[in-house]
Amino acid sequence: MCGIVGYVGEKLAIPMVLECLKSLEYRGYDSAGVAYVDGKKLEVFKRVGKLKILSNFIENKIIPASCAIGHTRWATHGEPSEKNAHPHTDNLSVLALAHNGIIENFSALKKDLNTQGVEFYGETDTEVFAKLLQQNIFNENAIKSENYAMHSTMHNTIKVTKKCIIMAIKKTIMQCTGSYAVVFIFKGIDDVIFFAKNKSPLIIGESKYGKMLASDTPALLGKCEKFHTINDGEFGYISKRSICIYDKDFNKIKPYFMPIKLQLNEVILGEHQHFMQKEIEEGAKSVLDTLDRLDSQKILAKIPEQIFDINSNFYITACGTALHAGRIAKYLIENQLGESVDLDYASEFRYKRPQLNSRSVCLCISQSGETADTLSCLELSKEFGATTLAVVNVRGSRMESIADYIIPTSAGPEIAVASTKAYLAQLGAIYALIAHMAKIRNKSLDFSIDEIKSIVKANENVNYENELKEVVELIKNEESVYFVGRGLDYLLAMEASLKLKEITYIHSEALPAGELKHGSLALISEGCVVFAILTQSDLIEKTLNNVHELNSRGAKVVLFTPFIELKNFVYKLIKLPNVKNLLAPFVALKPLQTLAYLSAISKNLDPDKPRNLAKSVTVE
Ligand code: F6R
Repeated sequence: MCGIVGYVGEKLAIPMVLECLKSLEYRGYDSAGVAYVDGKKLEVFKRVGKLKILSNFIENKIIPASCAIGHTRWATHGEPSEKNAHPHTDNLSVLALAHNGIIENFSALKKDLNTQGVEFYGETDTEVFAKLLQQNIFNENAIKSENYAMHSTMHNTIKVTKKCIIMAIKKTIMQCTGSYAVVFIFKGIDDVIFFAKNKSPLIIGESKYGKMLASDTPALLGKCEKFHTINDGEFGYISKRSICIYDKDFNKIKPYFMPIKLQLNEVILGEHQHFMQKEIEEGAKSVLDTLDRLDSQKILAKIPEQIFDINSNFYITACGTALHAGRIAKYLIENQLGESVDLDYASEFRYKRPQLNSRSVCLCISQSGETADTLSCLELSKEFGATTLAVVNVRGSRMESIADYIIPTSAGPEIAVASTKAYLAQLGAIYALIAHMAKIRNKSLDFSIDEIKSIVKANENVNYENELKEVVELIKNEESVYFVGRGLDYLLAMEASLKLKEITYIHSEALPAGELKHGSLALISEGCVVFAILTQSDLIEKTLNNVHELNSRGAKVVLFTPFIELKNFVYKLIKLPNVKNLLAPFVALKPLQTLAYLSAISKNLDPDKPRNLAKSVTVE
């Protein structure tokens, strides 16, 4: 949530920052802003809406700055507006600061600053941070005669040095609680970008052309060859010639650079129109790559077996689509291993006082590895002595550094906000985990990993775009639709429904098919579109009964199923490949994801950047 970038070096800083921000727009697109410092000049440009609006505005300006910062915002505190857009400045406009995270005690700090006469132009917590920081900088005394910037206040003239600023950052972060990755520049201190980090991601990139700060590695791709991950509590600065990092105890830290392994083709559209379309197509590859990696690196075998003890209390928690993957894990553990699992939304889990102890195992699932709700559950589980496992897609994420054991997925960078290929990769990891647990228990399963690989390979190139056209027309102007299914199909219905609503803004609800008659059937009227999913051969009759109930109330039922003989009972049938019951998710998701994607296109909506949402939800 919120993407930040800073560049200092030989190249023109503003175009560089704008270019890098493009790769971070998945983190928010409510507004965008850049700021640069050049001699005695500090200037900020901001615009509401997507980055393109800001880029168009700046396009013809020639700004010879070699040091700049930029931000793309997902609004938390304060509406998306120019005054709330980052970078933020202080009352004297001596600094410009961009932030990702939440300063939790900002109200108290603001009140305090207010009483000292500090005025605020917006509602953000970041503006409070910027103004507190400026005050702390001006309260530092420049002792040594190193290079300094002179600033005049109402009462006197102040000398500010890098050292003063570092001391002021140290003080400011002690006054603030919450999460932050901040970068800022200071008027008169040329070619230096200061930073501080706690709980929100921030990395340093280096190349022969300069140094960068960014929220994530895609921003550095093609610009830097290597990156260093800044740890929580650390702060410092980058300049043309040096990098200076302090830890929370004020010890100097040496950066440890790693090569950037991402490939450019992983983060560009290529011949696709949208990232979502590209990523739906990459679903099969992400399952296969995940399974291959887990196997070739013996990742599950390296986790101590006693963790999977039959007597452990197993908990699963995650958010959104990742939780839907978790639901399938719960289903499989209960159905195949005969053991019970507790599962909950991460935002609920930590507040329901889960009975965690040293015999508990908590499995967290996350594409980004940054989701604040899921991270809190991970931390809570550790506090209670539980063992934590994390299925994570983004390498080097915070979740990876906290969890006891990582089960990595290999979906590659997922850029569209709606998760598609990462969900499939999560399923790959989950099925591999269940197979591993079964092996430890000497239990046989109704599926094998080889079967998954072969059905995924066999269906990799199936394309549903033509077949779904008529269905897309059917729902394009609907206000509300429903998804129903039983057992595993209900879990798929939940994911299909979430995908559709988040990118088309059509209200959608997923229901266990058998539950309809207990209330929700009252919502069904003539012409209402209901998507039924039926992949489980043992549930044909039962689900069909529910389809009849819907038909009798005038619903248009679109059935996703391999059982074509049911064609005459429904308005339209979308044929799925016929696979073993438990393997259905690996073939049913693609048409359901494609349905959401095509429906968004038909409504002229950008499927990659749905309104009000962002990819990495780093606030609770
Ligand atoms: C929906 C979607 C979200 C995420 C959720 C968790 O398409 O992408 O529901 O699944 O915000 O995100 P991660 O997996 O990064 O923890």
